[in-house]
Amino acid sequence: MTSTHAFWLAGRQATGDDTFDVTSPWDGRTVGTVSVPTDAQVEEAVAAAHAVRDSFSATPAHVRAAALTHVADRLAERTEEIGQLISAENGKPIKWARGEVGRAVSVFRFAAEEARRFNGGEAQRLDTDAGGVGRLALTRRFNRGVVLGIAPFNFPLNLCAHKVAPAIAVGAPIILKPAPATPLSALILGELLAETDLPEGSWSVLPVANEKMPALVQDERLPVVSFTGSEKVGYAILDSVPRKHCTLELGGNGAAVVLGDFSSDEDLDWAATRIATFSNYQGGQSCISVQRVIADASVYDRLVPKIVAAVEAQVTGDPSDAATDVGPLVSEDAAKRVESWVDEAVKAGAELLTGGTRDGAAYAPTVLAALPADTTLSCEEVFGPVLSVQKVDGEAEAFAAVNSSKYGLQAGLFTHDIQAAFRGHRALEVGGVIVGDVPSYRADQMPYGGVKQSGVGREGVRYAMDDYTYERVLVLTGIDL
Ligand code: SIN
Repeated sequence: MTSTHAFWLAGRQATGDDTFDVTSPWDGRTVGTVSVPTDAQVEEAVAAAHAVRDSFSATPAHVRAAALTHVADRLAERTEEIGQLISAENGKPIKWARGEVGRAVSVFRFAAEEARRFNGGEAQRLDTDAGGVGRLALTRRFNRGVVLGIAPFNFPLNLCAHKVAPAIAVGAPIILKPAPATPLSALILGELLAETDLPEGSWSVLPVANEKMPALVQDERLPVVSFTGSEKVGYAILDSVPRKHCTLELGGNGAAVVLGDFSSDEDLDWAATRIATFSNYQGGQSCISVQRVIADASVYDRLVPKIVAAVEAQVTGDPSDAATDVGPLVSEDAAKRVESWVDEAVKAGAELLTGGTRDGAAYAPTVLAALPADTTLSCEEVFGPVLSVQKVDGEAEAFAAVNSSKYGLQAGLFTHDIQAAFRGHRALEVGGVIVGDVPSYRADQMPYGGVKQSGVGREGVRYAMDDYTYERVLVLTGIDL
């Protein structure tokens, strides 16, 4: 018997007429029952956010920073409980779930710090031409208005944090819509926000059904849409509201390049271990997990067996067990989709080096070689624990292979050569290049986002604050410059 979780409407707890169950992808048990807002309650939240937008924008920085610090502190205090919840609703191994809470703590801390120093201000003398004599321009940043944040299931807490914390930092009200599979962590975030002095209406957490979202996306009182999720849904949003300010954090099929100079046994052991861990962390359900290894021919034959051994050493099983590296995917349907893509690749001629089996929602860590270029697995984001290895001749061919993808989120570049690192930084069409490691590295304060079909805009606390705001210039006349 589980109690029903209320949602957060304009900062207050509320319940609607309907509920849905959140189930564990590992054992199918009900983790929680969540109340769904009615259309009238959604309208109430939007109207409240719209009404408070000017006054919230003018709240002193120290008030917003104090609220953000409070959330950071309380998340830190409740790490174990929230980590268990993330693991239960998402199927994420507990060690990764605890790490996610730690990251969310950092996001709120960074946002508190940035709220204190953020103004975007610059003073410019305008007397560079005769018409500007005695004139001074001051620029300040103002927020664009209420944010509609739409979060995915794969980081049910931290990707909500990345939407909420920067909004509060710049004084923009936010309506947060968590993923239907994983709303419980977002509702806890609401609990912590409710402990602060943030004004009524400045935030809501609404577990609205996906089918209801097009109307919210269209709502003119919500001028900013910040979406993290699939390429298909992201571009459908952008196409439906081309004149809104949309930030889209979409998919990727992250490549790890291993250049010929990265060739000692120690180098290759490091690369193999990192690749195996980060093609499988969270069942590969991260936009920057390693999906492709592109290795120079001079190291390929030594590297691949090490990768296969490291993948086979991943501990699969119960996500609540501290020893587990790889748990289930978010649902059995997700695992069946991954299975069908691997089966298609193998039928098309790919060589299965390990894995390739499914048990309910769990898909075995899998490595493929000789993946044909026209298979779904080669072209799309797998979002599962599946990796392909590819042999290339030299750096130029390696960079071209990375860029042959329609995605461009992050790439890893294993090299000791600083010049090669800079050449990669210039050549690779991605939002981030990680040297000496896999693409799956994200520090929450750094700019994060993609190019090509991986999305538009940047998150990373300060960068999301820039994204939620715009520069407004104030020209003063008659100034003694
Ligand atoms: C993502 O999967 O979109 C986010 C990855 C991360 O925050 O580490």
